[in-house]
Amino acid sequence: MGKVILTMTISIDGFVAGLNTSLSNPMGDGGLRLHDWIFASRTEKDTQILDQLYESSGAVIVGGRTYHYAMENAWGGASPFTAPALVVTKDVPKHDATGFMFVPEGIKSALLKARAIAGKKNVWVMGGANLIQQFIKEDVYDEIWIHIAPVILQKGVPLFKNLGEERIELKAYEVLQTPGATHIKYRRV
Ligand SMILES: NC(=O)c1ccc[n+]([C@@H]2O[C@H](COP(=O)([O-])OP(=O)(O)OC[C@H]3O[C@@H](n4cnc5c(N)ncnc54)[C@H](OP(=O)(O)O)[C@@H]3O)[C@@H](O)[C@H]2O)c1
Repeated sequence: MGKVILTMTISIDGFVAGLNTSLSNPMGDGGLRLHDWIFASRTEKDTQILDQLYESSGAVIVGGRTYHYAMENAWGGASPFTAPALVVTKDVPKHDATGFMFVPEGIKSALLKARAIAGKKNVWVMGGANLIQQFIKEDVYDEIWIHIAPVILQKGVPLFKNLGEERIELKAYEVLQTPGATHIKYRRV
């Protein structure tokens, strides 16, 4: 069985997107800045990280808002992922969505299905914040890969809330610095 890897790009102050996220503003006000490491300032090292994620993942899990705001109408409605993508949402689209499956029952059901599809490969949980928070709170993950963009957004969609009461100990086992982000891979202690 592969690992469950949670990934998220955040600002230094822990936001995954700006305020006012919507279909016409998927990353919120100023939020696109976070993804400079994937677009504007992408280097070979950044590409390596992305390639590693795509190649090691046998299934991807996506949150409902992330799908509806950022993916449903992009790429001609098809999935951008190389592995099957499971969307956790009660709002299941009626149209064709090649490469996507929809899971209205929540993250545990999505994870069961994703593991069955992924086999020995990893399950990649790519956000958004609400989904990552649920995986951390339910304690169903092996690693967290955080990409910290060098910007303090001051406001937006926070990652670090709704995580329960207990302290969460992680061990950083790889750090990669690029102009667009500090990439840190953590495993659970
Ligand atoms: N910085 C990054 O790396 C990164 C990565 C991914 C996304 N994002 C951004 O993050 C934002 C979205 O994050 P978010 O925290 O607002 O939302 P999200 O985690 O993408 O999705 C939350 C949604 O998931 C569905 N959901 C959650 N629990 C469920 C359950 N138990 N049963 C059924 N459905 C459930 C609901 O969708 P429905 O309401 O559709 O039922 C809920 O509204 C977007 O702006 C996106 O662009 C950033």
